Amino acid sequence: MTLSDASENVFPHRPSPPQGADAAALVAAFRTDLDRLTRNLVRQLRLERNVLVVGGAGYIGSVLVRKLLATGCKVTVLDDLIYDNGSSIAALLDLPEFSFVRGDLCHGETLHQALAGVTDVVLLAALVGDPLCKKYPDLARRVNHDGAKTMIDRLNGRGIDRFVFLSTCSNYGLRQDDTYATEEAELNPKSLYAETKVAVEQHIIGNAAGCDFCPTILRAATAYGVSDRMRFDLTVSEFARTLAIGEELLVYDEHTWRPYCHVDDISSAIITVLDTPRPRVCGEIFNVGSTDENYTKKMIVDALLPHAPGAVVKYKEGGFDPRNYRVSFEKIASKLGFTHKHSVNTCAPALMNNIRSGFFGDVGARRWFYGNYEVRNM
Ligand SMILES: NC(=O)c1ccc[n+]([C@@H]2O[C@H](COP(=O)([O-])OP(=O)(O)OC[C@H]3O[C@@H](n4cnc5c(N)ncnc54)[C@H](O)[C@@H]3O)[C@@H](O)[C@H]2O)c1
Repeated sequence: MTLSDASENVFPHRPSPPQGADAAALVAAFRTDLDRLTRNLVRQLRLERNVLVVGGAGYIGSVLVRKLLATGCKVTVLDDLIYDNGSSIAALLDLPEFSFVRGDLCHGETLHQALAGVTDVVLLAALVGDPLCKKYPDLARRVNHDGAKTMIDRLNGRGIDRFVFLSTCSNYGLRQDDTYATEEAELNPKSLYAETKVAVEQHIIGNAAGCDFCPTILRAATAYGVSDRMRFDLTVSEFARTLAIGEELLVYDEHTWRPYCHVDDISSAIITVLDTPRPRVCGEIFNVGSTDENYTKKMIVDALLPHAPGAVVKYKEGGFDPRNYRVSFEKIASKLGFTHKHSVNTCAPALMNNIRSGFFGDVGARRWFYGNYEVRNM
């Protein structure tokens, strides 16, 4: 007796497996069911999720917070509003899914209060940018380095599921060749800002095995795009505004490269990490951006010039910023399926039009709000 004879005897009425078109229809139906189950599961997880966004009133934070709320989860923001930037999230204060705690992440008691009922934490708060850290070196070390490390250590034992740390591609600093930096590339921080980010990354990786939450490090490209806490001290927005208001644009070291990523895309990448099963993101580092969005400063100017007739642009060598790096974003694309929706070539000219239409007319009067030039509170 053959094996198939035997199985016929044990299961005399077993239907024969579907063939051809029937099999394909069955697989398609199974996939649809699985997609529906996965969507329901993600929705369920989000309903039970309360994400603490530390620095949620900032440039990236005020976009991320709105996107998180739109996915259906609760959001708590801990922010010290160091640029008098509370207006960026004021419209959210009455939402039942939103809570706000004003304070410094370095204060244990404030952090303890903000962590009540929280399931996941995203750390954005810092003194952000090379010039600001240079201007306030002690504060930068206290917040970006000491405060961030202590905060991360305090997350243990609180039932936190995910922790996302926003680091920066500035950590690659100055690259000596034309290759694209992957996450394994040697780091070459060229400022106190990047040094503090590298140190916190090392702290997270060094302690990953001993922590009870799942940490992920995201090295974001330089951000651009509109936010409720707009920053005009970042390359794309600064160039677009200067040309839109008809001022002369002075560009230092126009052939230096850097990757750029829209604030909305950076926020999507953070949410993708929160939604991805733990084993694929725990203890991992991802560059956030898109490989085809590496540009020299000159390329950004060239994208803007057709929209700025009569503009005067001057180029000069020997600026204070030695950074020059191109970055590969292959890992986040292949491992997490992350793709960017926005591009510098379309968004930068659109920003110029919006500025000309009268948006951001108060930049001169509220300079402190529109860029990381001076710390107003702390
Ligand atoms: N903007 C970029 O181009 C860019 C690129 C790569 C990485 N990142 C990273 O993304 C994060 C957010 O950047 P951003 O551009 O939104 O910066 P931002 O300066 O606009 O926002 C930072 C927020 O943190 C708050 N904050 C600062 N110190 C605090 C403290 N001690 N306690 C509580 N709140 C405090 C500020 O009030 C502000 O709302 C940073 O960690 C930055 O390193 C930004």
